[in-house]
Amino acid sequence: MTAPGAFADLRALRACWHPVAFGRDVGSGPAQADLLGQPLVLWRGQDGQLRANSDLCVHRGTALSLGWVAGDELVCPYHGWRYRADGRCVAIPQLEDPARVPAKARIGAFRCQERYGLVWVALDEPRWPLPEVPELENGAWSLVTAGPYRWRCDAARQVENFTDFGHFPWVHPGLLGDPDRPVVPRHEVRTEGNVLHYTIVRPEAPNTDDFPVFGNAQAGPPQRHSRYELHLPYTIALRLGWGGERGMVYFFASQPLAADRCAGYVVIGRNYNLDQPDRVIQEFEDTIFGQDKVVVESQRPEQVPFDLAAELHLKFDAVAVAYRKAMRALGLATSDAAG
Ligand code: FES
Ligand SMILES: [Fe+2]
Repeated sequence: MTAPGAFADLRALRACWHPVAFGRDVGSGPAQADLLGQPLVLWRGQDGQLRANSDLCVHRGTALSLGWVAGDELVCPYHGWRYRADGRCVAIPQLEDPARVPAKARIGAFRCQERYGLVWVALDEPRWPLPEVPELENGAWSLVTAGPYRWRCDAARQVENFTDFGHFPWVHPGLLGDPDRPVVPRHEVRTEGNVLHYTIVRPEAPNTDDFPVFGNAQAGPPQRHSRYELHLPYTIALRLGWGGERGMVYFFASQPLAADRCAGYVVIGRNYNLDQPDRVIQEFEDTIFGQDKVVVESQRPEQVPFDLAAELHLKFDAVAVAYRKAMRALGLATSDAAG
């Protein structure tokens, strides 16, 4: 794309929480993760709490994620320099006195928390807290994770695909939509701070025998009530209901790996089908995300153009329009964005 446009601003995105891994994937050894083009090393100290540092030894630029954890210290694999969670190097084994460490010997240290089964990092002081999703923490709902889904596009394209109603019957016929009912029901978007709220009541395809994942077993044509919260920039809490007791929470967050790469994490909670094996939902999600990936990776530009004039928006694209307006209003997308 050669024309000037407004795109996500990687600098502004530093001041937001982003998912970087499933917590279960950071064990006793260090793990590598990319965030906004910055390589990170994730590790757990003696207390089991997560730490996030830059994955670059200050000595010779070795990836610390290739090293190991000793007590509360991260050890570089090349010459054994040891780092604390705050980024300070505390031991240089090549010195007569290994503790005589120069003040310059330190690496980046970042805010890090573990919640909803995910590791979250903010590279700068975050402007907003994580969304509250009590259903995922009440201990009564069963939780299933899916992903991460790594796509070659920016995180905004992945988020926007998740919120795009018009494509369901076309990309997911029989699974999320009915090709005989392609009209998008009316919906209105309310923007409060960094959160877009909207609700949609949508006809859907009934459960298939292949993927009996939804709670719509009642008689009559299935109708799904979907209440969305899109927490800018890249997190969605979607609450599904079918008019009865059954509820499902679909939590989705996209990790901006770099300007044109992302990874999507799914955490699903529900208060029914408690004994259903996780793989039923996981295989369903793998199918849906696989169908979406082909289409979304073909979009050009690879990043959502936040300038409304850059694409053609119709009334049923209300969410996309509100998302673009809010991203710009909050300074998360700018026309002189860093690429
Ligand atoms: S490169 Fe890390 S200790 Fe030398
Ligand atoms: Fe989709």
